[in-house]
Amino acid sequence: MVKDTLLKLLAVPGPTGFEGACASLIEKEIAPYVDEIRRDVMGNLICVKHGKANGRKIMLSAHMDEIGFIVTGIEDDGFLRVMALGGIHFEQMLACHVTLKSGAQGVVFAEGGHAPGTPVNAARLFLDIGASTKEEAQTRAAIGDWAVVRPQVSDMGDRVASPYMDDRAGCAVLLEAVKLVKESDNEIYAVFSTQEEVGLRGARTAAFAIQPDMGIALDVTIADDYPMAKKRVTTSQLGKGAAIKVMDRSSISHPAVKDAMEEAAKKAGVPYQFEVLTAGGTDAGAIHLTGGGVPSGTLSIPCRYVHAPCETVDVRDLEACVKLLAAML
Ligand code: CO
Ligand code: ZN
Repeated sequence: MVKDTLLKLLAVPGPTGFEGACASLIEKEIAPYVDEIRRDVMGNLICVKHGKANGRKIMLSAHMDEIGFIVTGIEDDGFLRVMALGGIHFEQMLACHVTLKSGAQGVVFAEGGHAPGTPVNAARLFLDIGASTKEEAQTRAAIGDWAVVRPQVSDMGDRVASPYMDDRAGCAVLLEAVKLVKESDNEIYAVFSTQEEVGLRGARTAAFAIQPDMGIALDVTIADDYPMAKKRVTTSQLGKGAAIKVMDRSSISHPAVKDAMEEAAKKAGVPYQFEVLTAGGTDAGAIHLTGGGVPSGTLSIPCRYVHAPCETVDVRDLEACVKLLAAML
């Protein structure tokens, strides 16, 4: 079940640049279903499932990393200063509970407390890890250590919220699709990529090494189907099925790949929707510019509150994505 897999993957922190623990977990889960597994210099977990001779190489990519913080300073009174790893919305980090590389726990707050109207930025944020002195703090944190919102899940039945949904939802879909494909003509490269949140870096080197004939990213996309002050400009909607990307800021989906996704959705009999994302990108942005160009697209999972610690998806959309993807392979 994709939900069981998702819940497993949501339990392990893997901030950008520090995805090792998440990679180990996925490696254990996927090992019985693939022929080869390797990790490259960037930390990408590359899992290969052989096809018949002369099959096409299809690269599927879901990023393991989530946004977080890096410790940049330790103050005399034991507070930590931080910098963002990826696209953090600082005001949404206020009052969050965090876990650090050492396993230490703490909370996030901002200088000056609840001063209304004061913008929250990285320079004003600090972590309180319960230390009273610099020396005490240094027993739990060092410069360069990561910190992330603590793994916590709200299981609402068909819908699930977590700070790591971007992109463990994509990882879960990829894992389940690989499990579903028994035999394929194609050589399938299931890549669990690193450092997507700072510019699609892992996918870039993985695609260069693989030189695929087709690239598909699995990632969340914005669902703005919730109460908003302004008129809704719905990009995708929860519970309305797999979202086939038309374009975002990093790529315009190749028509052949987009059409193949629609075909596969029909073949699998799953609901689907098209989405255009006005901000952000996916691993497809790196894959499609590799070598002389790779026909690429993105299969998206509708997600509310992307990059907030309460990213919410509908597992029925994940199931639709799994079936669509398996039908394509
Ligand atoms: Co993201
Ligand atoms: Zn993502």
